[in-house]
Amino acid sequence: MADLNLENLIQEIEESSASNHSELEQYRIEYLGKKGKVKALFAKLKEVDEGARKALGAKINEVKNKAEAKLESLKASISSEKKSGGPEQDLSLPGVPLALGTRHPISIVRNTMTQIFQRIGFTVSEGPEIETDWNNFTALNMPEDHPARDMQDTFFIQTDPDILLRTHTSPQQIRVMESTEPPIRIICPGRVYRNETISARSHCIFHQIEGLYVDENVSFADLRQTLYYFAKEMFGEDTQIRFRPSYFPFTEPSAEMDISCLICKGDGCPVCKHSGWVEILGCGMVDPAVLENCNIDSEKYTGYAFGLGIERPAMLKYRIDDIRLFFENDMRFLEQFQSAI
Ligand code: DAH
Repeated sequence: MADLNLENLIQEIEESSASNHSELEQYRIEYLGKKGKVKALFAKLKEVDEGARKALGAKINEVKNKAEAKLESLKASISSEKKSGGPEQDLSLPGVPLALGTRHPISIVRNTMTQIFQRIGFTVSEGPEIETDWNNFTALNMPEDHPARDMQDTFFIQTDPDILLRTHTSPQQIRVMESTEPPIRIICPGRVYRNETISARSHCIFHQIEGLYVDENVSFADLRQTLYYFAKEMFGEDTQIRFRPSYFPFTEPSAEMDISCLICKGDGCPVCKHSGWVEILGCGMVDPAVLENCNIDSEKYTGYAFGLGIERPAMLKYRIDDIRLFFENDMRFLEQFQSAI
């Protein structure tokens, strides 16, 4: 038994180490492989006298168990070292592509409209969505108790009736006229709020672009040409426009502008309610009283203004029949819009 040197072998096994998988495999082959040291011991067993065989067999089995236990413990120590060093990474793998976001259809239409006006000298002026009663109504010729206030169901702040969510982008006209000397040529895109029942056709949040031009000798003809240019740029060369007389407290005279229906080209369809025309904006010559409210001399200066909705043209452009889709943030809807602007 002594010449098999089992104690030495056990010590050797116990002192073995492996710091990676290939050293571990080397260890396994050396001690537990088919031609390994433990197998060799079992081969030797046959050569031993029958009397001593049983005791030696037990001892060899003990060596084998120790070798196997050591294998397990070396395995465990390698994998725990690997864990602490983080997962094994293949740095040559291609990266995971990040999905590119798309612009919201309302932003696309707003940007398109804004750029058209910028090309003819308008600058963008954005204002707050929380407004004062003065800017939203009174300065725009809608004093308290004016019936026109009813046309715009308003969200007020409970604790202060002078503060409200703007019902249109027109208050930005007041802010700019109060702080700027004419000539003024601005557009004011933004979000507006009205306390309306939400349906496929109307929402309590929507978007407008306000336009304002104040200078000496501004006439309705200027307004007409500007809006005609806008309509052609926005909706295509053959777009027709028409003005219908209307009423807004802050403009005199006032008008609403229709464009020929984009869908049926004027022949009549459900979108234009078979009239061939779709209303897209309100406009007019700035009422002298509004200029005076902002300390602009109405004898010297005149101006025009317009208020253009964004949702309706967007619905026409993309054939969207439910305004609520713009506000639901459903990825399946939003992913369909690709635009560079
Ligand atoms: N503020 C009006 C509205 O929301 C739209 C409007 C009409 C704006 C005529 C104007 C204008 O500047 O001149 O209904």
